[in-house]
Amino acid sequence: MNYSIAIDGPAGAGKSTIAKLIAKKMDCIYVDTGAMYRAMAVYFLRQGFDASWEDKITAACEDINVEIQYVDGEQQVILNGENITGMLRTEEVGKMASASSVYPAVRLKLVELQRKLAKENRVVMDGRDIGTYVLPDAEVKIYLTASVDERANRRYKELKEKGQAVPDYETIKKDIAERDYRDMNRDFAPLKQADDAVLIDCSDMSIEEVVDTISAIATARDKDV
Ligand code: DC
Repeated sequence: MNYSIAIDGPAGAGKSTIAKLIAKKMDCIYVDTGAMYRAMAVYFLRQGFDASWEDKITAACEDINVEIQYVDGEQQVILNGENITGMLRTEEVGKMASASSVYPAVRLKLVELQRKLAKENRVVMDGRDIGTYVLPDAEVKIYLTASVDERANRRYKELKEKGQAVPDYETIKKDIAERDYRDMNRDFAPLKQADDAVLIDCSDMSIEEVVDTISAIATARDKDV
């Protein structure tokens, strides 16, 4: 029986951390759709494209093949036969992903793959448009958010822990606010809370509390299907 948990929300709300834990608890695979947009962004950056070049980006979509594999339960993203999973989590790639994902050609390329994964597996899928557009019939829909300040704080700490060059806090906060604006205001499948999604503001919640809250909802609905 199909069973899908859709977790949408803005950048830095903790979706992937939470989604991975829920996937383990609920015996689902975790599908990180942001990583797919990031993979396309890697291709565009390698071509030397500017994010404003819609025609070139649209035409290039024909030459891109994105696949997903799982190794020890971890999602791997394959771009035209090359495993580029390790290249996805940089600020540069994140910015290009946000800017290029406004184009319908980019989105349509990935939506088909996302729906196929959900048809063939029990999934926890996170992103921006999963509950509203990709899987409108998902059994569980969560809109996970936190204040811009809290998300900037978390991103700052995460970068520091990774030992990466860390921009100052105000720059991180500005980047997050810009990304929110772009993700929420694009024409095609923008980020918004689905009417039937449960809103969770995790600004003052621990990871454990968020996981427990979502697991309780997901377990109740799993019994219904
Ligand atoms: O979740 P993330 O930061 O890895 O996503 C990177 C960008 O990809 C995000 O800013 C917008 C885009 N994205 C999208 O448009 N739709 C999705 N379902 C997932 C990500």
